[in-house]
Amino acid sequence: MGLVIAIDGPAASGKGTLSKRVAAAYGFAHLDTGALYRAVGVSVIRAGGDPADAEAATRAALDLHPEDGILSDPALRTDEAAQAASKVAVVPAVREALLAFQRRFAEMPPGGAPGSVLDGRDIGTVVCPSADAKLFVTASVEVRADRRLKELRERGIPAIPSDVLEDMKARDARDSQRAVAPLRPAADAFVLDTSALNADQAFDAAIAFIGSKTGLGPKA
Ligand code: CDP
Repeated sequence: MGLVIAIDGPAASGKGTLSKRVAAAYGFAHLDTGALYRAVGVSVIRAGGDPADAEAATRAALDLHPEDGILSDPALRTDEAAQAASKVAVVPAVREALLAFQRRFAEMPPGGAPGSVLDGRDIGTVVCPSADAKLFVTASVEVRADRRLKELRERGIPAIPSDVLEDMKARDARDSQRAVAPLRPAADAFVLDTSALNADQAFDAAIAFIGSKTGLGPKA
């Protein structure tokens, strides 16, 4: 088993960008576990179902074949997909169905990579509790809503600031209050608040922490 780096945090905290950069720095494989929940949510909608319907969500999760390219489907990146993801994510059987794929990725990273970076909500607490380094990336809800707004606008998606903030709060509440695998930092996680940090500063702080835990240095 290679080294495992767990990066958790709420929506638009910067964990996705950070995880990709960390993975590239060490030559590790990267898994965006949110994409799995998004794929389940989108599958339910495509089948004409309601993402809040636990049975439909469980069926979609059991039928999911992440290797088939669904994780890079642009439909996963919409706000509708994000909301659907956070609804299917409260269903214990959905989480259970996605667990094996995530653990396999960590144990045997694709392409023979020497390690992996998994980002999500419960990587350090549930999926990989024995990860070599755990980060919990966060930022104030206002900063995160601003970032999401900017990202949506850059992608040409019209968005109303107050709606984005409300959606962010609704998803935060659902993610933090659910009974199974709620969003919270692992006891041994390094909490990285990026409210006042740019992407480079967040990356430098992450690399310093990971280096202190693992002895790893970024690839030359
Ligand atoms: O990119 P963003 O942070 O907005 O969301 P995401 O990481 O793609 O996750 C979408 C939704 O999936 C979250 O709001 C969670 O409800 C759920 N999720 C989860 O429950 N557990 C994970 N490990 C990853 C995502």
